[in-house]
Amino acid sequence: MSKNNVYIETYGCQMNFADTELVMGILKNKGYEITKEIEDANVILLNTCSVRDNAEQRIHGRLGNIKKYKDDNPETVIGILGCMAERLRSDLIENKKMVDLVVGPDEYRRLPEFIDGAFGGEKGIGVKLSRTETYEDIAPYREDKLAAWISVMRGCDKFCTYCIVPYTRGRERSRSLDSIAGEVRHLAERNFREVTLLGQNVNSYEDNGKDFADLLEACALAAPAMRIRFTTSHPQDLSDKLLETIARYDNICNYIHLPVQSGSNRVLEAMNRTYTREHYLNIIDKARKLIPGISFSTDIIAGFPSETYEDHLMTLDIMRKVRYDGAFMFKYSPREGTKAYNMKDDVPEDEKLKRLNEIIDLQQTISYEINQELIGKQETVLVEGFSKKSDKFFSGRTDTNKVAVFEAKEGISIGDYVKITITKATSATLFGKIEE
Ligand code: 5AD
Ligand code: SF4
Repeated sequence: MSKNNVYIETYGCQMNFADTELVMGILKNKGYEITKEIEDANVILLNTCSVRDNAEQRIHGRLGNIKKYKDDNPETVIGILGCMAERLRSDLIENKKMVDLVVGPDEYRRLPEFIDGAFGGEKGIGVKLSRTETYEDIAPYREDKLAAWISVMRGCDKFCTYCIVPYTRGRERSRSLDSIAGEVRHLAERNFREVTLLGQNVNSYEDNGKDFADLLEACALAAPAMRIRFTTSHPQDLSDKLLETIARYDNICNYIHLPVQSGSNRVLEAMNRTYTREHYLNIIDKARKLIPGISFSTDIIAGFPSETYEDHLMTLDIMRKVRYDGAFMFKYSPREGTKAYNMKDDVPEDEKLKRLNEIIDLQQTISYEINQELIGKQETVLVEGFSKKSDKFFSGRTDTNKVAVFEAKEGISIGDYVKITITKATSATLFGKIEE
């Protein structure tokens, strides 16, 4: 086995996937090799997620498997990165004796040093959060693909009462607009066709008086042939200027992920979401007027402390009013250290599940209906690859972020934009035909 082969597994949000590319960039700069085969690695890193308990449980399970691996290969260095590193700190080293290093999201620059120490038998812990670290000067290691992520800001200052993120990822800070636009330009030169600007709350992006709308515009202009996406938006900070910017540029996708979390004003307040359902619905109205055909997705939490069945009905109601194209739907999971952790988790488990299932069923019906309405219409799709089932079919996504499958055709290849006519649809997939 050649020395210093690093294998990384990534869990959780897109931000973590972007961070893994940063970590690979940092390690490659120091002469480490990245491997996709765990058997070839003498450094195994898990980039972890703490947002819900089931995410952490899964990772604990995986660590158990890796422990067996370490028993056979005692020289292997095992490290935990990301949100669990930040949340559990030395606990992971002391209780899970097989972990050699624990490095939180703002200390990745020190990773090579920690790994070297670990080879010498030293345990490493780096979990300080920073008010300034954006890794702006570090080139992430990206394979040549079509789509890339760029994290444009880190951390979150919103302190929603259920959320662990402000504790694991620290305070908000933005990367400079020029460096981001430069990276977008560079990606375009490497033939990337799509970029997603990432942040826990991109709408609070700020760089010397420039806001997120300015950043989006700069990126749209830097790479006119590239699709620009972004996530996540907080309803409190979503400005008219942002909507106008999306409307103005063809290459900024007509799609906003706008987590609502709950449709009940009382629950929204208990969550410290800082907006009302009326404010939220008003944004949706404005967006639909300014950007015809815009699609929305959302996040919803079922069974937050004190949520009554009436509150839950308000959530179903706002889903019917907005008619989301898609949704990520979760049962409330208490996270130690958050404000909501001190509230009584008083919605019984079976009731949480029942509410969650009602939310999922409703969303499925709505997605199905919306997609049926697209039959006969044209959509522009970026050809991203072959469909899972057959290489006679391409798969790609529409401007509005819907998966589309359509028959492959001579002269058309992966990375092209094509116009298709929708012929059939399920709640999750559009089927179509390339325009003659
Ligand atoms: N329990 C359940 N869902 C949560 N989320 C964040 N924290 C929790 C929690 N404690 C969800 C929110 C957020 C998404 C990323 O994860 O819906 O928008
Ligand atoms: Fe968590 Fe709220 Fe910040 Fe999103 S906005 S990361 S839900 S605290």
